[in-house]
This record gives sequence, C-alpha cells and structure tokens, in this order.
Amino acid sequence: MKGWKRVIHEVKADVSAARDRDPAAQGVSTFEILTSWAGVQALLAHRVAHELAGAGVPLLPRLLAYLTRAVTGVEIHPAARIGREFFIDHGSGVVIGETAEIGERVTLYQGVTLGGTGFQRGKRHPTLGDNVTVGSGAKLLGPIAVGSGAKIGANTVVIEDVPPGATVVGNPGHQVKLDGKRVEGPDADWIHLPDPIAEAIKTLSQRIADLERRLAELDGAETPGEDPPQLRERTGRSSAGG
Ligand SMILES: CC(C)(COP(=O)(O)OP(=O)(O)OC[C@H]1O[C@@H](n2cnc3c(N)ncnc32)[C@H](O)[C@@H]1OP(=O)(O)O)[C@@H](O)C(=O)NCCC(=O)NCCS
Repeated sequence: MKGWKRVIHEVKADVSAARDRDPAAQGVSTFEILTSWAGVQALLAHRVAHELAGAGVPLLPRLLAYLTRAVTGVEIHPAARIGREFFIDHGSGVVIGETAEIGERVTLYQGVTLGGTGFQRGKRHPTLGDNVTVGSGAKLLGPIAVGSGAKIGANTVVIEDVPPGATVVGNPGHQVKLDGKRVEGPDADWIHLPDPIAEAIKTLSQRIADLERRLAELDGAETPGEDPPQLRERTGRSSAGG
C-alpha cells in the first residue's frame, strides 16, 4: 500500500513536471495531459510496471511495458529506476534499458536511447544525475555516469562519463561548455583538427616540384618548373561533430 501511495505522488509530480517544462502544456488540464501526452503516459505505465516488478509479479510488468511501447513509442524496461519529476517530451522513439538509473528532474526529448554497447550482463546502461537534459536523437551507451546538470546535445553519441554541469555535443560526444561557459584549452578545438593525409600530400607535391625544377636546370631549360598547386586549408565544421 505504501508503495502505491508513492507511485501516486510520483505520477502527480511527473504531470506537474510536464506542465513546467513543456511550453505547449501551459494552461492544459491534468486530464488532458494524462490522456494526450505520450511521454507522460509511458512514465505513468512505467511507475506501475516498476512497482509490480518490485513486488515480484510475473509477466504483467513486461506486458505493460510492451503495450506502452505499442501505444506511445516509448520503451522503458520495468526494472529501470527513474527519479521524481521526470519528463519525456514528444515521447516517440525513446528507449531506456534495464539497468538505467535516472535522477530527479531529468528531461529527455524524442529518440533518446539509454542503452548498452553490446551483449554484456550486469550494469550496462547509463546513470543520469539530477537535472540532466538529453536532446532529441542522442544515444548514451554503456554504464557511463552523466553528472548532475549536464546537457547532451541533439544527436550526440555519448560513450564516456560526462562531468556535472557539462554540455556535450557531436559524435563522439565532446564537451563544449562547463556550467554554461565555453571550454578553453588545447583539447577544446574540435574544428581545426590536424589532417595527416593532407600534410603528407602537401610534402610530396613540394618535393616533386623541387625535383622538376632541378631537372629543368640540368636540362638547361630557361624557365624553371611551375610551383605545385596549393592545397586549400580545410574550413568549416569537423566531420567528427562540433
Ligand atoms: C546542446 C545544447 C543544449 C547547447 O545549447 P547551448 O548551451 O545554448 O550551446 P550553444 O548553442 O552555444 O552551442 C555551443 C557549441 O556547440 C554546438 N552545438 C550545439 N548543439 C549541438 C548539437 N546538437 N550537435 C552538434 N553541435 C552542437 C554549437 O554550434 C556551438 O558550437 P561553436 O562553439 O563551434 O559555436 C543545444 O544545442 C541542444 O542540442 N539542445 C537539444 C534540444 C532538442 O533536442 N530539442 C528538441 C525539441 S523537439
């Protein structure tokens, strides 16, 4: 009975989290949110499935999770541990694995995966601290820890721990901000990465030009050979993300 009281409190907190964090939910009644917000419905079903699984009820928790996925597009394993005031915006395509742990006031957008990296057993899914935001399409893989207050950009792939307060973007995910301020330092520039292949081609083409010039001198040609075409410096964003 105590457990079910907690579930009711959790669901109330989840509904008010949806109202706080979704601009589209302003002034919308609790009934409307419960009946038409897929992320809220998925979470409500998970709270019940998690409680049933904890009480040792067979089959029903998985069946509930399966039906919820069919209706909302959100798949949450009944054993996943989710803190208060959790909010999934838009719902569809979210996957939360069995050993995932989520702190309080966490927000996930559509298409987020909290998954494993392979066929390991035991703890194999991410642990998210409090107040973490994960952008749409982001993949967080393995038993990594994402510190409280971290922000994960849309479509980011995270396979390493994220410090508290960090903003991480790209594939592979890399830190661009800490506590809202840009990260400075030698490892912070992900745009102008060294390009060893371009460097090697540049050196070879210079050596060929030197040889051609020397040959022309030996042949007694009046005009020296042409300079090699200059390779343009790469500009724009790195293909590795960022
Ligand atoms: C990651 C995020 C939280 C960063 O927001 P922010 O703190 O305002 O950071 P900025 O916009 O100043 O971006 C910092 C740098 O990261 C880059 N960046 C931001 N988001 C990125 C992303 N998703 N992927 C790749 N690079 C990204 C910016 O271009 C900028 O690069 P620069 O330093 O070369 O200029 C935000 O961009 C984001 O992705 N939010 C998710 C939103 C979402 O999923 N919405 C779905 C609604 S349906």
